[in-house]
Amino acid sequence: MSNKKFRGTDVLLHEKRVFEPKEDVLNRSLVKNWDEEIEKGKDIEKYWAEKAEQFVWFKKWNKILDESNKPFYQWFTGGKINLTYNAVDRWIETGKRNSLAIIYINERGEEIKLTFYELYTHVNKMANALKNLGVVKGDVVSIYMPMCIESIISMLACAKIGAIHNVVYSGLSVGSFVERMNDSKSKILIAADGTYRRGKIIDLKNIVDEAILRCPSIQSVVVINHVKESYELAELSGIELLYDRLVEGESSYCEPVWLNSEDPLFILYTSGSVGEPKGVIHTTAGYMVGVATTLKYNFDIHDDDLWWCTGDIGWITGHSYSVYGPLLLGTTSIIYEGGPDFPDPGIWWKIIEKYGVTKFYTSPTAIRHLMRFGERYAKLYDLSSLRILGTVGETLNPEAWMWFYRNIGNKNCPIIDTWWQTENGMHLIAPTPTISLKPGSVAKPFPGIEADIFDDDGNSLPPGQGGHLVIKKPWPAMFRTLLNNDERFLDTYWNDFPECVFKSGDLARKDEDGYFWIQGRSDDILKVAGHRIGSSEVESALVSHPAISEASVIGKKDPVKGEVIKAFVILKGGYKFDSKLIEELKEHVGHELGPVAVIGEITSVDNLPKTRSGKIMRRILRAKDTGEELGDTSTLDM
Ligand code: WT7
Repeated sequence: MSNKKFRGTDVLLHEKRVFEPKEDVLNRSLVKNWDEEIEKGKDIEKYWAEKAEQFVWFKKWNKILDESNKPFYQWFTGGKINLTYNAVDRWIETGKRNSLAIIYINERGEEIKLTFYELYTHVNKMANALKNLGVVKGDVVSIYMPMCIESIISMLACAKIGAIHNVVYSGLSVGSFVERMNDSKSKILIAADGTYRRGKIIDLKNIVDEAILRCPSIQSVVVINHVKESYELAELSGIELLYDRLVEGESSYCEPVWLNSEDPLFILYTSGSVGEPKGVIHTTAGYMVGVATTLKYNFDIHDDDLWWCTGDIGWITGHSYSVYGPLLLGTTSIIYEGGPDFPDPGIWWKIIEKYGVTKFYTSPTAIRHLMRFGERYAKLYDLSSLRILGTVGETLNPEAWMWFYRNIGNKNCPIIDTWWQTENGMHLIAPTPTISLKPGSVAKPFPGIEADIFDDDGNSLPPGQGGHLVIKKPWPAMFRTLLNNDERFLDTYWNDFPECVFKSGDLARKDEDGYFWIQGRSDDILKVAGHRIGSSEVESALVSHPAISEASVIGKKDPVKGEVIKAFVILKGGYKFDSKLIEELKEHVGHELGPVAVIGEITSVDNLPKTRSGKIMRRILRAKDTGEELGDTSTLDM
């Protein structure tokens, strides 16, 4: 093939800065020599088995890695384990029994602190309550809640009894929510009645009410009374139960269900470039081992740390590093329900000072947003408790890296820019505090991870050349398949290259030192403010408006959000393209998909570039929009 489909091959960024680890960082670190650790990781089975030994197994595994049915890899087969037991129960028998597991705070300044023992009793009561509602191992429980104590308790309660949780981001609105509950055939829904955002109450209960009418599999809805004072019986339908009442009389002991290593732990939906969202499946033991190990070493977690990951539980970051990772290490976490700039852009720094946060993990979007307000807000607070900073979700461009490094870390904190995906479950490429850092680079693959850069034909590319970022060996926290869709699992990730190489869908390059630089997506998935949105989902939402006959969307570079959505629409006869319609369309998409899908720009066109087979060529729209060369147009139907 002469005409490569991707445009990732040119090195546009000439970033040359390197930051060496400081003396005190090296002294404190759990692993002094990362190269040795990477060397150990070459024997993947031995490496991950050693890490798995550190957990409590009801029955040890027979086989570390089963490769008999690639790429349906299985890890720690024959083993029996319970994740909640390892994340919560285990600590009750130790000195951590009365230490804090979670410090929950919200934008109204309210605070709830839970010790490991308290978390343990709450989880047990909820687990027993779910059992009483008829939930058994393998049932799917959907969770539609903001960051709060009860959402974490609910996830852990599911994992304790072997129910599969399906957390739906509370910012998604009715259409996406219904789709995710129906596709997963959820039996129970646990939902909060609302959340707070920038001083206002966001009503979730009305969305829940609308959604359950369209979800026949839901048998009971557990309502968390989060924003409302109280409920009258008449306000609840026959299948709704109030959480507080439900758990009231339950026993605070619940025997864990010992699960097979490969029993599913959760489903989490993520956007693909075409078709319906994909239900990514993660299983129990491998996920546990991968998540805890990467958190421990990439953020050098010690007993005295105070961890804060700002990732919402509605996304994989929240699952892996707000909930499971820190609890599995017995670490205290901040759980914050609120955004970065309310009541003002100093709120996060204020929290860091007040509680003495030591490790802080957030997104590039948030950093870029806060940068706009200058250093002023950060300077108001003493941030000297911080030891390590980290990001995930998009490229942390060198300018934002430097801002974070100077103004938040006061040049003392390594910046851990972690590359991974919902499908990966855990960090795959990231620095560790004791190696040299290059702003804008995600550094090296974690021990046991073999990453490479391929051209379209599956040849490994030399340093400096961009291509497909692929992973050549399995890893324990990898997703196992897509719900009810093995074929799509194979097609999207495994079939493009021979020998079961995982295709991430990202473009990247490697430099002479083996450091990876992510260049963006190779497909049509949009990345708006760190959230993955399928172009086709937005297009479907647009054409569901009566004025639109066809639509196509692309991502347009944005200094803060990374990308915003630009839509091209073809109007139906009789409609006028004016500011009123534009506003209406934006609102309509917001209603269908939720506030994450922000449309930056809408233009009306007479036709859209298509292949002869009728597929919209978004790549052409993108090139036209930026004035770039059109590339290969041989399949374009002119
Ligand atoms: C996509 C995955 C994994 C948690 C959050 C996102 C992009 C992720 C980085 C990074 C550059 C990044 C990639 C990836 N991405 N981390 N450090 N540098 N890009 O999970 O929603 O599954 O999205 O996010 O494009 O494929 P996700």
